[in-house]
Amino acid sequence: MQLDVVTLFPEWFDWFRGQRHVGNALARGHELRTLNPREHTPLSGGQVDDTPFGGGAGMVLRVDVMDAALRGFYGMDPVDLRHQRRVLALTPGGRILDDGFVEELAAEPAITLLCGRYEGFDERIVQHFASDPVSVGRYVLSGGELAAMVVMDAVLRKLPGSLGHANSAVEESFSAALGGDPEYPHYTRPAEYRGWKVPEVLLSGHHEEIRQWRRARSRERGAAGGASSSLP
Ligand code: ADE
Repeated sequence: MQLDVVTLFPEWFDWFRGQRHVGNALARGHELRTLNPREHTPLSGGQVDDTPFGGGAGMVLRVDVMDAALRGFYGMDPVDLRHQRRVLALTPGGRILDDGFVEELAAEPAITLLCGRYEGFDERIVQHFASDPVSVGRYVLSGGELAAMVVMDAVLRKLPGSLGHANSAVEESFSAALGGDPEYPHYTRPAEYRGWKVPEVLLSGHHEEIRQWRRARSRERGAAGGASSSLP
């Protein structure tokens, strides 16, 4: 898969690239490129944003700058680009990322992620250049970069060979294998710590009973509306 991130802060992604699972994915032939609109801006002084029409706080990423950046990088009109590859605009009001959406994205050969900064994008960027506005939650980050990393992290772990154990991504929270429920609780050694015991069934070696116990805990968490904690 080819992941391209359009960002005013490409150096943030050096850290992301350095994470082991991301590095492994890149070593297996997946690609992560960054594109800085500042390097393509037709405006003087590297200008990329401007004050909002109608007034208000902050700065808005300009549509002409994004047009020039995408056109310079891909050699085509960005209006056509979104018909050739998924172009995600990271914005708090977009389609909420969930496991089904991640699966959908993981099946794509190439994705471009547009990161807004400050007050976000000129709306025409979302309307005309993006195939999907995407949100990682109903709260506002200071830019799309962290949201882009969330999307890419979730997508990369779905790709074959990205996790050590082949089943790790299949039976994880919200997956079809768990009926969309959160994952069951995990335990490791020691089997008892400060009087807190690991559930007996997990030590029993009875695979079917373990499977049923896990499914039941997963369902309970789903019914409780998320990853319920075992706090008293
Ligand atoms: N940019 C700022 N906040 C965001 C959010 N919650 N999701 C995606 N992009 C964003």
